Amino acid sequence: LAEQLELSRGVIVEAYEQLVAEGYLVSRPGGATTVAARAAEARPGAIAGRRREHRLDFRYGRPDVTQFPRTSWLRSLRRVLTEAPSERLSYLDRRGSDELRAALAEYLNRVRGTAADPERIVICSGFAQALFLLTQVLRTIGRRRLAVEVPGVQDVVYTADQSGVRLVPVPVDEAGLDVAVLAAGDADAVLVTPAHQFPTGAVLSPERRAALIAWATAGDRLILEDDYDAEYRYDREPIGALHGLDPEHVIYAGSASKTLAPGLRLGWLLVPGRLVDRFAAAKEATDRGSASLEQLAFADFLARGEFDHHLRRMRPVYRARRDGMLEALRRHLPEARPVGASAGLHILAWLPAWLDESRLVDEAARLGIGVDGVGPYYGERAGPPGLLLGYGTLAVPQIQEGIRILGSVAASMQRS
Ligand SMILES: Cc1ncc(COP(=O)(O)O)c(C=O)c1O
Repeated sequence: LAEQLELSRGVIVEAYEQLVAEGYLVSRPGGATTVAARAAEARPGAIAGRRREHRLDFRYGRPDVTQFPRTSWLRSLRRVLTEAPSERLSYLDRRGSDELRAALAEYLNRVRGTAADPERIVICSGFAQALFLLTQVLRTIGRRRLAVEVPGVQDVVYTADQSGVRLVPVPVDEAGLDVAVLAAGDADAVLVTPAHQFPTGAVLSPERRAALIAWATAGDRLILEDDYDAEYRYDREPIGALHGLDPEHVIYAGSASKTLAPGLRLGWLLVPGRLVDRFAAAKEATDRGSASLEQLAFADFLARGEFDHHLRRMRPVYRARRDGMLEALRRHLPEARPVGASAGLHILAWLPAWLDESRLVDEAARLGIGVDGVGPYYGERAGPPGLLLGYGTLAVPQIQEGIRILGSVAASMQRS
């Protein structure tokens, strides 16, 4: 080995001794040195759960975190560290910081048309925790049948199962959740994405919004409104939140994950007055509150108009990427039918029935293109083939290149 590597014998002997000392090699006097059995077993393989890296990543759900407003966030953080009274670093109100609840109420009422009251806001760790708290509260108040959109967000399957809540699937079409099917069933609460249905991008039609509110009021039922990417709307005025129509039956959930960064883990719930204590108790029991400095910094960021400024800056950036995506699809994958392009950070491209969605996803991954199929969002049901194409993190030339490759994969699948 010393000869092969052109090193001195002393270095090799030392390396062997080190590996023996650490338990990777076994050496017997007069015998061969071998790899220790345990070391061979312990060799780390692929770690389950770690997401694969891709050269071009269209996977849904990612805002461009390289555009995070570091300077203005730092200003807010510096300000709160300098100015906030020390007790703000202790346990806060169970519902979250007073400052953040006040700033959010002002922002949401102005921008999203909600009827938010700071006393009825509960700060949480993103939408994921909002959903967890909701299912906990549903169980404690004896509402155990939660309707969900199909296709729709899948985290709810795990969360509902943990809380003993049963899911009632309801189909979605171009006008959003099919409220007639919902009303014909036995659900006592529903999870909806009215502003931009996930994943189809449909906007809940005015008739269905009215019917949904009527359904909730008639049976004193609850609506969880997931307003996850309503701030990014490109071709028309944003559609106001359902919450403003009936704050006693709509629980509104918002998140900073798409607008600022998922790593902040900041989310908020607007809850009916009669449920505030239950939500606050569930949040307290879960983690005693979200990180106070982040809450205070976000409150300052909102109150100084930095959030509005950031959104104004990002909208044209994302719109250009969305346009680049639609153009690339027309050119390289004309058989795809894009929907849901007027808002958000992704589109859904329905595929012709002859294209095998999961094969296309796998072949693309082999070529370094990360893309999600729509199939998994149908849960146990089967749906038509489609691709979820996130454009949040890619520049237009990268989008064009990625879609060109997807188009050539689709073409070769068609030939074969
Ligand atoms: C439908 C939907 N709502 C909300 C969110 C935001 O989740 P969180 O706030 O936990 O990051 C996501 C995340 O991708 C989502 O897919």
